Amino acid sequence: MSTSLVYRSALGYELVMRLLYGANYGERMRAVAELVPPGSSVLELCCGPGTLQRRHLEERAGAYVGIDINPRFVAQLRRRGVDARRVDLAEDDPPLPDADVVMMQASLYQFLPDAGRIVERMLAAAGDRVIIAEPIRNLASSRLPLVGRLGRRGTDPGVGQAAHRFTEESLDALLGAYRDRVIEAFKIPGNREKVYVLAARRPPAPASSTRDPRRSRRSGTAGDP
Ligand SMILES: C[S@@+](CC[C@H](N)C(=O)[O-])C[C@H]1O[C@@H](n2cnc3c(N)ncnc32)[C@H](O)[C@@H]1O
Repeated sequence: MSTSLVYRSALGYELVMRLLYGANYGERMRAVAELVPPGSSVLELCCGPGTLQRRHLEERAGAYVGIDINPRFVAQLRRRGVDARRVDLAEDDPPLPDADVVMMQASLYQFLPDAGRIVERMLAAAGDRVIIAEPIRNLASSRLPLVGRLGRRGTDPGVGQAAHRFTEESLDALLGAYRDRVIEAFKIPGNREKVYVLAARRPPAPASSTRDPRRSRRSGTAGDP
């Protein structure tokens, strides 16, 4: 499996993201974290090196599970004591672990052309809300040569470069199918990314326990350690 340099270390990854997104990277993380009700259990899909968890959710979330295909990121997170699981979300299809908040940042494009399938899986796992933050400007076609090269080459976590990206129109078209569930939708300053918050389908877990142990122990849940 050949993995783009960007995905070989958490530090390298974060440096490249800062180069590509500048201040917007931190702003997106802050904006997304503020959408997590304090004390909620969180499932983050395509969590990467766990930047959101480390910077914003360590205190705020009641529990956190991160899923990613990249074994380096998963191993690094586990060394920090984070419940990180290696799952190929494009291939493996068992139900996702339940959580109050199920989220994904800057990763939905990797599931095109059938991104609706992963959105459905997220909705099935969420007890309160689904949060999706997605780039709507394709940096791979940037006129700045370095940014364009990183944007193109930096998308291969070891499963091949993603062939498709979202525009605002195509993201709105996909998530428009859930318009009756949209709690809010807004662009991050800089207009490079858009955030959608969808209301969950099933009722939230009782306040006394953020997770139902019977559900989290069921067999065949994606990413069971
Ligand atoms: C652009 S990065 C975003 C990381 C993080 N969410 C962030 O915003 O910094 C995309 C992430 O998706 C992961 N990924 C790509 N394809 C995946 C798949 N099929 N299943 C699970 N994770 C995947 C990559 O390993 C990478 O960490």
